[in-house]
Amino acid sequence: MKFFIDTASIDSIKEAKDFGILDGVTTNPSLMAKEGITGDENVKAHYAKICDIVDGDVSAEVISTDFEGIIKEGKALAQIAPNIVVKVPMIKDGVKAIRWFTDNGIRTNCTLVFSAGQAILAAKAGATYLSPFIGRVDDTNWDGISLIAEIAEVYAIQGYDTEILAASIRNSRHIVQSAKAGADIVTCPLSAIMGLLKHPLTDIGLAKFLADHKKANS
Ligand code: G3P
Repeated sequence: MKFFIDTASIDSIKEAKDFGILDGVTTNPSLMAKEGITGDENVKAHYAKICDIVDGDVSAEVISTDFEGIIKEGKALAQIAPNIVVKVPMIKDGVKAIRWFTDNGIRTNCTLVFSAGQAILAAKAGATYLSPFIGRVDDTNWDGISLIAEIAEVYAIQGYDTEILAASIRNSRHIVQSAKAGADIVTCPLSAIMGLLKHPLTDIGLAKFLADHKKANS
């Protein structure tokens, strides 16, 4: 399973790369706004900066919701760097645009996915990645991980190539559960990845090893 980081923060991206586990980056308009990146040209320049740091794929989301607008924006985003993937919302014109991008050699990430039915539509349109939002499903008292498992089952039965990119990951446990449920990729804040390091017995065990070594060598 690949690890993408869900952020527009250059510092977080650099830290994840330095840690040695970074396979790609996803962003969305909220994450860009959080970093204070506004205006078309600044947004494009920021994506270029991210693509310079990251070897893997970088998802850049369109703002348009009509077919022509999505195509225009997506084409411009795809020109920024070869590792840009155009992120398109799961709406009627979005699915139509994903089909167009697929037919024209532009890779896509279908976002805001909350059901297996939507996942089938995105795969039929040829989406490269599919982003089901685990945390937001959990927020509604449904089960985000079951959604990943259902999509993984359908995709395996049907032999779809679209990769399942589990998004809206809120904690380290979600990462483990996504791996078990068949996600191809998780995208999450760096904190959720760093949380995978934690176990009290590791800390206790290391402290004991170091103390025993010190005693024996003093
Ligand atoms: O990038 C989409 C997704 O990861 C958003 O996560 O935490 O805002 O639901 P969240």
